[in-house]
Parts: sequence; structure tokens; C-alpha cells
Amino acid sequence: MCSAEPLSAPSNRRIDACAIIPPDLSNVLDDAWSVARRVPGFLLEGEARFLGTVAACLPKAGAIVEIGSFKGKSTVMLAKVAQHYDLGRIISIDPHNFNSAELENHKSTADASTYADFTQNLQSAGVSDWVEAHRALSGDMARTWNAPIRLLWIDGDHSYRGAKLDFDGFSRHLVPGGVVAFHDALHEFAGPIRVFVEDVLRSSKFGPSGFVHSIAWSQFRPDDGERFASQRAALERTAARLIPFLHDERELHGLRKLRFKAVRSRVPRSAISPSDWASLLNRSE
Ligand SMILES: C[S@@+](CC[C@H](N)C(=O)[O-])C[C@H]1O[C@@H](n2cnc3c(N)ncnc32)[C@H](O)[C@@H]1O
Repeated sequence: MCSAEPLSAPSNRRIDACAIIPPDLSNVLDDAWSVARRVPGFLLEGEARFLGTVAACLPKAGAIVEIGSFKGKSTVMLAKVAQHYDLGRIISIDPHNFNSAELENHKSTADASTYADFTQNLQSAGVSDWVEAHRALSGDMARTWNAPIRLLWIDGDHSYRGAKLDFDGFSRHLVPGGVVAFHDALHEFAGPIRVFVEDVLRSSKFGPSGFVHSIAWSQFRPDDGERFASQRAALERTAARLIPFLHDERELHGLRKLRFKAVRSRVPRSAISPSDWASLLNRSE
């Protein structure tokens, strides 16, 4: 993969991201989404395409780790891209019996497990061999995990404690140039947005950052993250204003909800095309 169409190289600095987009990426994303869209789940098309782009255009070293698979929508999207570009198996971590009000309505079986649907969906998509499924809590997996990670996709427990545990447990394995992405960072959950602001945007170890729909993403740049300080700070100023609205176990209603939405509307979060994505990673600040 990453074999054609070089993008504009910025000055003479070393870029820790793949600066090349595979020429067939657009078709690959179309094909992957045509399969993933049939899987029940919580991912928008723009988010799925973004995930696929990130997976296809990062340095090849390191695993793609997904925390929170549910019935496999994002898993299938990532696995289809991995299958095409030979990126290795997607590491999926989910106990498949997690209880939350959000998930309750989507359960289809009496035992409240999503595992049977998950494996069936992988099989229908033809990607069973491209997923290494761990039926476990992320915290338990983090204790023994010791492999490098190039894409850390966090879509599990959205409480502050849950998101923080996931970030702390796995982000230390990110390779330079790797990406962390949180789902539902612009929805009404306390964890993802707070961890993104406090641990990513305020850290000089991270570089280019942004939102795509409700995904918050950032590239790990331990050597030159400082160069992106002003870009991170600009994003942090708008995103941090969401944090006081959100508390675990307390839903937003009425005027507070309207205020939250008004603040959220100021956070830039449009879809990113593959070429925009590569340019973002390549810019100097
Ligand atoms: C929002 S769903 C994931 C949606 C999925 N990524 C998709 O594309 O449809 C959240 C999932 O996270 C799982 N989960 C919750 N807490 C977890 C934890 N501590 N470790 C791993 N998975 C967890 C739940 O079982 C649930 O399946």
C-alpha cells in the first residue's frame, strides 16, 4: 500500500505519517462501506470513511486496536480496508455483554450478548480472518498488552473513567505517527471529549488534531508535537467549553441541552477527504 500519488512534501522535515495515498483508496472505501453499512451500529458514513482512510494511510508498523465493537460496524469497515491492503488483523476488544441504556435498545437476543451477531456479521462480510476478537474488558487487556499500536480506536465505555482508562492503558503503545481516535466525542458523553481535551490537545506529544463528525482524532508526534501547539490550542478553546455540560449519569435537558448544542455547533467537524487528511498531517503547524 501507500505506493503512489505523493503529496506535497513540506520543507525538509521528517514526516511521521504516510504522505502517500493509495491510488485505489476511494474505491476501497466505497466497497468497505457498502458492506459495513449493512451492519447495525453507531457509525456514520463519513466517520467510517475517515477510519478507513486513517487505517490505509498510516505507517504500517503497529496494530489497529478497536475498543468497543458491538455488532461489528466499525470492525468490518476497518477489516475490509486491512484485508485489501494487507494491514494485519484488527484487534477487537469487547466483552459483548456490557450493559448501558444506550445499548439496551439495540440488543436482539435474550442473553443480551452481541457476540453471536458480531461473529455472524464478520462472516457475512468475509473478514473473519482479518479480526482478532478478544471477548474482554479493555482494562483487563491493557494490563498485558505490550505491542506497538498505529491506530487506537476508542469506542467502548464512554464514561470519563472508562475513556480515561482506555487512553491511559493503550496510548502509551502508540508508535510515532500513529493516531488515536475517540468516537462520540461530540455526543452527550462525559468521557471522550474530556480525555481528548485534557490528555491529547493539552499534550505537546500530539500533533495534527481534529473532529470528523463525532470522532475526535489526533496524531501522536512525541518528537515534534510542540510545532502544532497553536493548532491544538485553537481546537482546545472551543472543545473545552463542552466539558462542563457533561457528567456521567446526568442527562442533558431543556435549556442546558440547547446551550450544549450551541457550543457544539462552533466545533469544526466536517468530513475529511483522503487528500485533506494527508495534507493535514503534513502541515508544519
Ligand atoms: C458504542 S458501542 C461500539 C460501536 C461500534 N464501534 C460500532 O461501530 O457500531 C460500545 C461497545 O463498547 C463495549 N464496551 C463497553 N465497555 C467496554 C470496555 N471496558 N472494554 C471493551 N468494550 C467495552 C460495549 O460492549 C459495546 O459493544
